Amino acid sequence: MAANGSKANRFLIWGGEGWVAGHLKTLLEKQGKEVFSTTIRMQNREEVLAELDRVKPTHVLNAAGCTGRPNVDWCEDHKEETMRSNVIGTMNLTDCCFLKGIHCTVFATGCIYQYDDKHPWDGPGYLETDPANFKDSFYSDTKGHVEEIMKHYTNCLILRLRMPVSDDLNPRNFVTKISKYERVVDIPNSNTILTDLLPASILLAEHNDTGIYNFTNPGAISHNEVLSLFKEIVRPSFTWKNFTLEEQAKVIKAGRSNCKLDTTKLVNKLKEYNYEVPEIHAAYRACFERMKAAGVQ
Ligand SMILES: NC(=O)c1ccc[n+]([C@@H]2O[C@H](COP(=O)([O-])OP(=O)(O)OC[C@H]3O[C@@H](n4cnc5c(N)ncnc54)[C@H](OP(=O)(O)O)[C@@H]3O)[C@@H](O)[C@H]2O)c1
Repeated sequence: MAANGSKANRFLIWGGEGWVAGHLKTLLEKQGKEVFSTTIRMQNREEVLAELDRVKPTHVLNAAGCTGRPNVDWCEDHKEETMRSNVIGTMNLTDCCFLKGIHCTVFATGCIYQYDDKHPWDGPGYLETDPANFKDSFYSDTKGHVEEIMKHYTNCLILRLRMPVSDDLNPRNFVTKISKYERVVDIPNSNTILTDLLPASILLAEHNDTGIYNFTNPGAISHNEVLSLFKEIVRPSFTWKNFTLEEQAKVIKAGRSNCKLDTTKLVNKLKEYNYEVPEIHAAYRACFERMKAAGVQ
């Protein structure tokens, strides 16, 4: 029980061994919150229900998902496994939480859009209400479809991350990925700096907010802008080479989403909680300064 007599929050993180899950656990522990994690497969209904009964969380944070290894190209050749996790599993976990009266935050993706004539990179970003229009990757396709249905669950908060960035050079970090590619495209995109956004996810969950939120820093930043800042602040010796989207298409199996998301809904909601998310260029600068201060090279 909390001091005010209400039930104290108890978080259960799904996909416990994953990258985002690890960051969530560390953050909640730092905040002194009660937190548990699990690796139970989301699609195994009996096991999921038993786990919810055992841990008795007030909030589930679902950071589980089939993301493919070494990358989403894997999902093109493993469609059943991808659907079992990203469609059947994600829906099942949300439904089990609904039946047990548990709030469920889903760490979803904004990679369900691509720039089009009405949404050029320097035009309006995609809204939470815009239908998904990026179908060139099976991973993204599963995520777009499940969100369309799952948004009707009244216990469900859907947070659309894009190209997440941590303050280290973990292989899952978007910066690590593009710094290791032989060549990179140069297109503005919405990005999620985890240090800025993960505390916001806890705030939204604790307030039992529901619905869909574009979950990125405001604005868009191009690959070259990211790598220029990386070179300036973290690794002065760094160099890179660009190539075009057409050239990129020859070395990948699934297409890659490029888009800007509108963050007005998120920014306004977080204002209610006195929380501000920095614009993406300022956020990257701060992120790289934290890396440098920690001795990351
Ligand atoms: N990283 C990104 O670039 C990015 C961008 C936008 C959105 N997201 C989303 O954010 C979430 C977390 O991403 P992440 O980068 O932390 O991925 P990650 O490191 O691959 O972690 C995902 C975890 O989910 C587990 N998992 C997969 N299928 C499962 C299932 N059916 N039941 C239970 N656990 C399952 C995986 O376990 P196994 O390895 O044992 O399968 C893995 O430990 C994912 O849903 C992802 O789609 C990620």
